[in-house]
Amino acid sequence: VGLGEIVRPLLDWYAVRSRTLPFRSDPTPYHVWLSEIMLQQTRVEAALPYYRRFLEVLPTIADLAAADEQTLFKLWEGLGYYSRARNLQKCAKIVVERFGGELPADYDELLKLPGIGPYTAGAIGSIAFSLPVAAVDGNVLRVLSRLRADPEDILLPATRRRVTAELCAVMPPDSGSFNQALMELGALVCLPNGAPKCGECPLSALCRAHALGREEDFPQKIKK
Ligand code: ADE
Ligand code: SF4
Repeated sequence: VGLGEIVRPLLDWYAVRSRTLPFRSDPTPYHVWLSEIMLQQTRVEAALPYYRRFLEVLPTIADLAAADEQTLFKLWEGLGYYSRARNLQKCAKIVVERFGGELPADYDELLKLPGIGPYTAGAIGSIAFSLPVAAVDGNVLRVLSRLRADPEDILLPATRRRVTAELCAVMPPDSGSFNQALMELGALVCLPNGAPKCGECPLSALCRAHALGREEDFPQKIKK
């Protein structure tokens, strides 16, 4: 199947089935950025209380830039990976100095900022700014690997680059919803560890691994 065929069923499913999350209800660039950094190593349910408290204390990027280290680390306590909090503030200071306190609506500019890699730049670019960019995380790679029964190693940078280009080629105007729909499908339906809920999947009729009865064989574990 062409990848373009997944767009409509996926967006329809997302409109009905996606979780109501605070960074989705009010997706300012700051909110999306903060949520994506927290979600890099923390599950959604676990991150939500931290997300709310963080924004109560530091409601703007300027507040984050000006926060003392003790306040910042207190807010991050329990999330771990303190380098993320450090980079967050380093980035906020640059954004205040160079961009007047607003994250730039430009993928390449976002990518230059500390702590923002291709996935996070794609997430902020699409969710906050509707830029036609992909946001490819592990969930997205797993879903696409199964959809096409793709034998490529999803840990290879080349696989990620190819998937990113393929998604960009079919990106609908609502890129933020499309990217989040793929992540959400991976988080709620196309689960890892050989346990996908194909009976609930809006893409099951298009899925090659499902047609082959081989969902659990993808993504393939490549021996090192
Ligand atoms: N994981 C990371 N970012 C996410 C998002 N925007 N929606 C769902 N899961 C996510
Ligand atoms: Fe994943 Fe199953 Fe949906 Fe295929 S049909 S994308 S394996 S949940």
